[in-house]
Amino acid sequence: QGYDLGIYFASHLQKVFHKKVTDDEIAFLAIHLYTALANQHQEGENKKVLVISSMRQSENILLKQTLLNWFSDITSELTFKTPEQIEGIRRSGIINTGVLDLVEHEIHAGMSTLEIDKLVYEYTKDHGGIPATLGYDGFPKSCCTSINEVVCHGIPNEFDILEEGDIINVDCTTILDGYYADASRMFTIGKTTPQKEKLVRVAKECLEIGMEAAKPFGFVGDIGHAIEKHAKKNGFSVVRDLCGHGVGIEFHEEPDVEHFGKKGTGMLLVPGMVFTIEPMINMGTWEVFIDEEDGWTVVTEDEQPSAQWEHTFVMTDN
Ligand code: MF3
Ligand code: CO
Ligand code: CO
Repeated sequence: QGYDLGIYFASHLQKVFHKKVTDDEIAFLAIHLYTALANQHQEGENKKVLVISSMRQSENILLKQTLLNWFSDITSELTFKTPEQIEGIRRSGIINTGVLDLVEHEIHAGMSTLEIDKLVYEYTKDHGGIPATLGYDGFPKSCCTSINEVVCHGIPNEFDILEEGDIINVDCTTILDGYYADASRMFTIGKTTPQKEKLVRVAKECLEIGMEAAKPFGFVGDIGHAIEKHAKKNGFSVVRDLCGHGVGIEFHEEPDVEHFGKKGTGMLLVPGMVFTIEPMINMGTWEVFIDEEDGWTVVTEDEQPSAQWEHTFVMTDN
């Protein structure tokens, strides 16, 4: 009950900030929020989310300072984006979408993944951006190219030549003026098998269903729950070792967005959050391993195919 109250008052605080009520009224609501949160079962993470959210959206200095004092231990995190930051991430996303459109236009049988990488590098540079993966934790290329049984983080190279029937994920992240946007698509080379075709389609549906499940003042767990249900219904499994993530000011921020789980669990989804959903769906087992030779390439344990789609989202008021 305390928890429901916390959400109730938090949403009131949001509305209040748009309306400009008196400091007394805001303080009243804030005290209730505080009391409700102090009593709630899900301490920690979500308490932080509500408080930071209230603070970030408030133009009321008194309330900001009050909350800051009350929650001095947890209010330093950068979980919510300002409208300016969201605009910066959107501009970065426009370039990132352009990169993926270019790859979609150019990709064909006989092409190496290194050629895809060159397209990504040149386009991004030409548009004033930087490919985020280049040099990230030592990753050597400008995108990830993951063919068939490769789940993600495949490294583009001159020896991987696309063949008729291959399915490939190309994952691009652009940095523009310091802002990150992260997305990936699947491409089918020529004609593939009905099962692989279905895998690519269901993985895309999983992204869309995850997006639908993400609601303001819902939970991160709602997203994973919806995705897992759809994958299982279609006879496929969900990779558990890798997840979506907050994004925007850095490449990988909180929260982790798992593609499985329970409704009503995990971090609260609050307006101003920017995060990816990027389900990796396997035809066989969900288990994966990392190629020891390069330390990056993630492959399915049973070497059956895997598919992934990714998009960067901003949580709005509605
Ligand atoms: N773009 C990937 C993601 O969706 C991360 C790739 S990191 C790399 O989070 F180093 F493997 F490129
Ligand atoms: Co991502
Ligand atoms: Co990505």
